[in-house]
Amino acid sequence: MKWDPAKYAQFGDYRDRPFFDLTARIHADNPRLVVDLGSGPGNLTATLAERWPKAQVVGLDSSPEMLAQAGGRRATTPNLSFSLADITAWVPPEEADVVVTNAALQWVPGHRELLPRWLDALRPGAWFALQVPGNFNSPSHTLMRGLAESESWSGRLSGVLRHDGVVGEAAEYLRIMLDAGCDADAWETTYLQLLPGENAVLDWVRGAGLRPVLAALSGEDARAFEAEYSARLTEAYPPSVHGTVFPFRRIFAVARKRE
Ligand SMILES: C[S@@+](CC[C@H](N)C(=O)[O-])C[C@H]1O[C@@H](n2cnc3c(N)ncnc32)[C@H](O)[C@@H]1O
Repeated sequence: MKWDPAKYAQFGDYRDRPFFDLTARIHADNPRLVVDLGSGPGNLTATLAERWPKAQVVGLDSSPEMLAQAGGRRATTPNLSFSLADITAWVPPEEADVVVTNAALQWVPGHRELLPRWLDALRPGAWFALQVPGNFNSPSHTLMRGLAESESWSGRLSGVLRHDGVVGEAAEYLRIMLDAGCDADAWETTYLQLLPGENAVLDWVRGAGLRPVLAALSGEDARAFEAEYSARLTEAYPPSVHGTVFPFRRIFAVARKRE
């Protein structure tokens, strides 16, 4: 499934803000190696390289399209690099003092089983910070799934959308981190995103949650699905003179391995 970096970067401020809310809770002074798992277009990874200029900052991602976009940032930031890698096979190197993963683990089935292993491998004092969307039961997702499972679409879209247990609740990440011998802090925030333009919510999900559906359908079918879905979205998220309010819940957890 291909990622479109330009589409993903649309609504940059709303997509970026949770990253800064997350990383504000990391209090590492002088990390040697900082790893960003699922670094995407790399703009946020670059801010880690600026924050810790003495650290080596490495972004890992499995999408060649995203890496191509990220690669251009290396020239201006010498302590920043990116590599093609699958998060599921990643093992923390000994010198990893900070690990960040923002809006990526929802694409990694089984990440809650990987998390204790990653935390176990980190040295005392190291940080692990994660953020995942917590909106799988919001109308934007339930309407998409309802339509995909309807009689007219299920033949073409069966099994394309995952839903049950894609991410944990904040309390679950907190427990995993505490069980792994970390001090931990977990919370959730619902951002009331005010989106501009017509079909604002459709435009938002095109850059992320709707991608598996669009990838599974031909051009004509994709357009027909979008038209039906868009009508349902407009009912659930009515536009106002100020724009369309799109509440987006996100889940955060930050661990520091106890010394
Ligand atoms: C929604 S984007 C988030 C990008 C970036 N962290 C940000 O916050 O802007 C999710 C990224 O996770 C990457 N990803 C998904 N599954 C992955 C895996 N198994 N291994 C590595 N990267 C993965 C995708 O390629 C994509 O670039």
